[in-house]
Order: sequence, then structure tokens, then C-alpha cells
Amino acid sequence: MTVEEALTIVETRLNPQSLSKVQHLVFSQCWQGYTYADIATNYGYDTDYIKYVGFQLWQLLSQALGKKVSKSNIASILKAIASPAAGADLYISNSSNFDNGMMQFEPFSTDTDVVAQKAATINQHPGWAEAMNVPVFYNRCTEILTMKQWLVQERCRLVAIFGIGGIGKTSLAAVLAQHVQHDFQHLIWRSLRNLQPLTNMVAELFQTLPQQENQLPTTPEASISLLVNYLRQHRCFLVLDNSEGILRSGDHFGRYREGYEHYGQLLREIADTYHQSCVVLTGREKPIGFGFKEGTNLPVRSLQLTGLAEEDAYKVIEVKGLKGSQAEMRSLIQHYLGNPLALKIVSAYIRDLFNGNISDFFAQGTTVFGDIRNLLDQQFNRLSEIETQIMYWLAINPELSIVQLQEELIPIAPKPSLLEALLSLERRSLIEKASPSLIENNATRFSVPPIFKEYLGIVFQSQICR
Ligand SMILES: Nc1ncnc2c1ncn2[C@@H]1O[C@H](COP(=O)(O)OP(=O)(O)OP(=O)(O)O)[C@@H](O)[C@H]1O
Ligand SMILES: [Mg+2]
Repeated sequence: MTVEEALTIVETRLNPQSLSKVQHLVFSQCWQGYTYADIATNYGYDTDYIKYVGFQLWQLLSQALGKKVSKSNIASILKAIASPAAGADLYISNSSNFDNGMMQFEPFSTDTDVVAQKAATINQHPGWAEAMNVPVFYNRCTEILTMKQWLVQERCRLVAIFGIGGIGKTSLAAVLAQHVQHDFQHLIWRSLRNLQPLTNMVAELFQTLPQQENQLPTTPEASISLLVNYLRQHRCFLVLDNSEGILRSGDHFGRYREGYEHYGQLLREIADTYHQSCVVLTGREKPIGFGFKEGTNLPVRSLQLTGLAEEDAYKVIEVKGLKGSQAEMRSLIQHYLGNPLALKIVSAYIRDLFNGNISDFFAQGTTVFGDIRNLLDQQFNRLSEIETQIMYWLAINPELSIVQLQEELIPIAPKPSLLEALLSLERRSLIEKASPSLIENNATRFSVPPIFKEYLGIVFQSQICR
């Protein structure tokens, strides 16, 4: 484990507190095997002072990690936390707002000095122009470590987080920003949900930056060149959130909406030309051309975000005061695929309608309604015709191989379209591949999770009624 990875876990556990500058120094130097005397000599401190800082640091970490921490066991403790096999139970509780170009912490901790100190550091970075709130964030330690590695160590230029609605893409990008803020000069946040033409988006973005341009460009080409130039001159962490907003609905290729194709050109420039910044793209779908650019050893990467680990999803429903056995809680989490938004919505319904009783909720038989239905409508209404057909076939059959799907669908769709649509559905986490142990004759089989089956059944019935 590198010192950066170790520090990420430590900062995550300490959140909303953070290490002071000298604690940070002592931690990183001890991690690299230096003695207190070495640190004092190399950095011009008194040895007793460094020893005292070390003593306080291990006490602080013992509290945060719930184990007696010392200089000699810190590495093994952090390795155990980072290893998913060891059941890492990382909890990040923070409270932050990104508002008026600033990221501010609400007084979450009673230690107001620590909070004020952290807020002051973050406010040095303007550009958080859009309000967002990450009140509680559980774990995602593996994802944060992976992305930090891509951003900080490997200096990737373009990194994307893809996943189904409500899975936590925006929250992850925001929490990641807190982790990497010290490696960047500017943190900039833009949502693409409001469908702004590229020229306007770039113009607004520049208005939030400290060095404002007198003459903002009026053509997309000039806007791209201005932005990429800025990314070259300054090390920026630029989040482009909700990228599905600029993609066509009903198109499984991920093509851009008419009039928004210049965003594709911007992403190509960001991926292909040298600069010192990192652009983080979040979205429900992969834009066309993205797949060709990404790869290990390339400066473009993507993370497919899936549901929360069971122990973290459990915390999401626990705070809503639900009642049920361990097995019932597990069924609820699995049914909603560990999606934190879906779990929050359904827990509120169970609390309000079923007095918090999970078995009563399952007994009434319907798990897709209200805001859960809206969430799924948003996702399914964007599918192409062939994707919708595949979903229906998979919903009425337990599992189908590619050959079986071809037999059913070739009259309607040519073979290449079928394969493209399958790939697109899998990338959107809407279909699942059967586990390798269940694969017969090397034929990959696909299925849809029960929640989508129920949803498709409801939609089908309402179509018939109409
Ligand atoms: N790791 C987490 N721990 C606890 N809650 C979480 C976590 N990740 C996300 N959430 C909660 O789940 C909800 C959805 O998260 P978020 O908005 O980040 O999803 P998204 O993937 O960006 O959705 P969309 O596709 O609609 O933009 C929010 O209420 C958020 O607070
Ligand atoms: Mg989002």
C-alpha cells in the first residue's frame, strides 16, 4: 500500500476532521520508515516535539479506527481495512455544500476549530458553482482508492463514473474531490443536466474562475481551445456531471443530441492532447467514442459503479428505523440491487406505510411504485427499440443465450444491432450475465434482476390497458 492510499483511508476515517500539516508529515515519513529523529533533523524540528506529535497522532488514529494504533502496527491495520476480504467497514460521514462557487462544511463536528480549518482550505478553490449536498456517505473505499490512483499517481486526463440512476455517481465524484483537493489548483463543477450549449457552459465556467477572460469566445471551437488551454496551464479537477443529458434518448450508441456534438469534440481534445488537469465525467450512459479511448496504461479510464456493499446498504436502511430479521434486510437490499437512492426511497415508504415492518411490505407483493417507478421510468424511457425488446424477452424467460435471443429477435433486428444493444444494456447494469459456473457449452446467458422484471410487467400491463 502506498503512502497516498494509506492517507486516503486515514482521512476518510477521520472525516470531517483532518490531519494537521505536521501530523500529515509525521504519518507519511513514519510510513516510509523514518524515525522521529530523522524527521526532526530532515525538517528542522525538535525531536521531542516530533515524538509528541507522533504520540498524539497514534491516539487520534486509535480513536478513529477503533483499534490501538502504533507506529509499528499502523500498516497492518490499514491493509486489513483496505482489503475487501477483511470486510472493510469504512464510514465517511460528512456534510458539505457546494454553493456559489465554494465548497462549505456545515458545523457537523463539535470541534468547530477543525471544521473551520477544513472549510478555509477548501474555500481557496473557487468554481463549485452548483449546489449539491453529500450528507452521509458510506464506504466506497475501493472506488476512491482506484480513482485516486488514476488521478494523482497515474495522472489520467479523463476519468468517467458510469452507472444506473441513483447508484451514487455524483456523490462519489464530490467525495473524491475532497480527497484530491490538495493535488489540484482549482476544483470546478458543472452539471450538463440543464442542456447548455457548449459555448454557454464554457462561458459560465470561466466566470467562476479567479482569472476571468475579458473576451469570452462565441464559437464552440474557440471555447474548446480556451478551456483546454486553461487545463494545460493550471492543474484543475473538473467534474462534468450528468453527461447523459447531452446524449440522445433511445440511442444505444451513446450519440450526442443534435447541437451538442461539440461536447464530443471537447472530450476527445481532453483525452488526446497533453494537459495537467483531470476531467471527471459522470453519467448513466457511455458517450460514443469513449470506449475506444480508455484502457489500462492509457490516460482515459472508466469505473462502472454498482450497488453498495451489503454492510453499507444496511446502514442506509437502518437509519430509517426499519424492523426485520437479518434475512429480510438482506432480501430488501438485494432486491433493490444495493442502489442507495432506491433503498432510501423504499425505506421511507416502509416506515410510513408499514410501520417500518419489512415482512409486511414484502407480503403485499408490489415493490415498484411511486418514486421507485419514476426512477426506473427515467432509465427505461431512454432505451432504444431493440434494447426494450431484449428486456421484454429476458423478463419473460429465466435466462437466454445470445443465440436464443437472436432466434427471437433477428426478424426484427439485424445481428450487429442485437450485439450492440446487449453490450449497451450490460454497461447500463440493466442485464446480468449468468455466473460462470452456470454457463453451459460456453454459451453466455443473460437475465434481468427481479425488480426490472416486475417493472417491465407493470409497464406491459398498462400498455395493454391503453
Ligand atoms: N456511498 C453512499 N452512502 C450513502 N448514501 C449514498 C452513497 N452514495 C449515494 N448515496 C445517496 O444516494 C442518493 C443518490 O446518489 P447520487 O445522486 O450520487 O446518485 P447518481 O448516481 O448521481 O444518480 P443520477 O444518475 O440520478 O445522477 C443520494 O441521496 C445520496 O446521498
Ligand atoms: Mg448524479
